[in-house]
Amino acid sequence: MKFFLDTANIAEIEEAASWGVLAGVTTNPSLYAREGGRLADFHDHVVRICEIVDGPVSAETVTLKRDEIVAEGVELAALHPNVVVKVPTMPEGLAATRTLFEKGVRINMTLCFTVPQALLAARSGASYVSPFIGRFDDISEDGIEHLGNVIAALANYDFGHEVEVIAASVRHPQHVVSAALLGADIATVPFGVLEKCVQHPLSDRGREAFLADWEKVKNS
Ligand code: G3P
Repeated sequence: MKFFLDTANIAEIEEAASWGVLAGVTTNPSLYAREGGRLADFHDHVVRICEIVDGPVSAETVTLKRDEIVAEGVELAALHPNVVVKVPTMPEGLAATRTLFEKGVRINMTLCFTVPQALLAARSGASYVSPFIGRFDDISEDGIEHLGNVIAALANYDFGHEVEVIAASVRHPQHVVSAALLGADIATVPFGVLEKCVQHPLSDRGREAFLADWEKVKNS
């Protein structure tokens, strides 16, 4: 499973990239707003992320009609070869995805919750399908079960182009564990979750013991 970072924070992206583990980045309008992002700076911000990460960088469309989504998608894709255009799951989004696919633009279909939505996203030409885990958990449904259903259903078919499943709306390392065991191609995780994935008290305790013993060696 590959790791994407789910953020628009440049410092977090630089730090994760420096660990050598970052295969891509996903952003959305809420994440950009959280960074105090301004409309006038949005395209520059996307390009900046693309220059840090050698992999797909999802930038989301914010229009609702197919022609507008296509125009927005073409504009975003022209910013940098790493850009993947994020399109929300809805009928106009499917139509726009088909047109963008035919133009050679890669699509990440977002806000994708169910198996039928994921199948339609893949059929319309999306290269990435993003089932949200945490938001199901938020409404007392099992997001991991839904993710597993999407992965199993998509694996039954050849869509004529590569389709990767991005486990999204990841809230904690146990979501990462479950996504990996289910065979998700990618997990897109907030930086805080990525940090938690590295940590283990036994790793800390073991390192501290090794260093304490090395002090004895140095002083011998
Ligand atoms: O990028 C979309 C998704 O990962 C959002 O996650 O935590 O806002 O549900 P969350």
